[in-house]
Amino acid sequence: MKEKILVTGGTGYIGSHTVVELQNAGYEVIIIDNLSNSSADVVDNIEQVSGIRPAFEKLDCLDQEGLAAVFAKYGDIKAVIHFAASKAVGESVEKPLLYYRNNLVSLINILELMPRYNVKGIVFSSSCTVYGQPDQLPVTEEAPIKKAESPYGNTKQINEEIIRDTVASGSPISAILLRYFNPIGAHPTALLGELPNGVPQNLVPYITQTAIGIREKLSVFGDDYDTPDGSCIRDFINVVDLAKAHVVAIKRVLEDKQKEKVEVFNIGTGRGLSVLELIHAFEQSTGVKLNYQIVGRRSGDIEKVWANPELANKELGWKAETSIEDTLRSAWNWQLKLRERGIQ
Ligand code: UD1
Repeated sequence: MKEKILVTGGTGYIGSHTVVELQNAGYEVIIIDNLSNSSADVVDNIEQVSGIRPAFEKLDCLDQEGLAAVFAKYGDIKAVIHFAASKAVGESVEKPLLYYRNNLVSLINILELMPRYNVKGIVFSSSCTVYGQPDQLPVTEEAPIKKAESPYGNTKQINEEIIRDTVASGSPISAILLRYFNPIGAHPTALLGELPNGVPQNLVPYITQTAIGIREKLSVFGDDYDTPDGSCIRDFINVVDLAKAHVVAIKRVLEDKQKEKVEVFNIGTGRGLSVLELIHAFEQSTGVKLNYQIVGRRSGDIEKVWANPELANKELGWKAETSIEDTLRSAWNWQLKLRERGIQ
C-alpha cells in the first residue's frame, strides 16, 4: 500500500513539481487547490509527466469543514505538505488582511485537523525572507529572524511560530520547515512550470517573457547596491531540485528520523548570483539576447542573500544538483512551450 500524502497548493508552481517527485518516489498524492493562481489542467500535465493521475479536490484551505471531509474521504493520510498560500510581496502590502487570513487561517485549519485524523507530520513552505538582510553570508538556519519587510514575509515568520507553538503544546505531530531561496526553472519535459497571473513580479518569468516578446524590456531594479556589479544577489534554486527536498523531508518525517519535532532547513544552492549575472547566464545558455535597462531600486528588496545549505546536505542527504545553465534553459523551453500551447 502506497503511503498517502496530502499536498495543498499542489497545482501551483512548486507544488506541481513536488507532486511528480512524490509519485516517482512511490507515494500516493492527494492535491487540494483552490485554483486561485493555477489551473486544473496542471493535473493532466502531472499525469503526463509521471504516468499517474493524482487525486484532486478543488478546495480552499480556509474551508475547515471541506478539509475535514477530504481527510475523512481518503483516510489514513500520513503527512501534509502545505504550499497553499498567497505569495506576492507587493500585493501583501496593499491587502494585508487578505494575506493574514489566507496564510494564517489555512495553516491553523490544517494543524487543528491533523491530530484528529492521525496525520503524523507536516512539511511547511517557508522562505529565506524570514532572515531579512542577514548580517552574515552565507546565511545559516541559526541566523536571527529579522523584522519582516512585508505582510507576506510576516506570514511566513508567524506560520513558523504557529507550528513551533503547536508542537510545543503537545500536539502529536512533527514538522519540517523548508526555507526556500529563489526557486526558478521548469520541469525538463516543459510540461510543468511557473505561470504567473498578469505581469510577472519575479525575475525569471519576466526574463523569459521579455525574451519571447511579451514584454518589451526587462527592468533591473538597481545597480548601486554594495555588490561586485551593483545589482542584488540571490540564491537561485532549480525547482525540481527543490521539489526533491520535499520528498526527503517527507521520508524523514514518516520514518521517524527527525532529531527534533520541529526541524528547519535552508533549501538553496549555496551560491549567490547577481541579477546581472543571471541575465548574462540566460543569454549565454539560450543564445537569446535580452532587452534590459537599469532602473531605480525596488522598495523592500534585500541587497544580497544566499544560503548555507550544509545542514540540508548533511542531515537530509539532499543537494542542489542542476546547473544554472540547464535551469535557465528549462525556463526558456517552458516559455516556448506555453507559446506552442497558445497560452502566452
Ligand atoms: C521574493 C520574496 C520571497 C518570495 C519570492 C516569491 C522577499 C525578500 N523575497 O523574492 O520571499 O518567496 O519573492 O514571490 O520578500 N528583479 C529585477 N527585475 C524584475 C524582477 C526582479 O531586477 O523585473 C530583481 C529584484 O529586484 C531582486 C531579484 O530580481 O533583486 C529577485 O527578485 P524576485 O524574483 O522578485 O524575488 P525576491 O524578491 O528575491
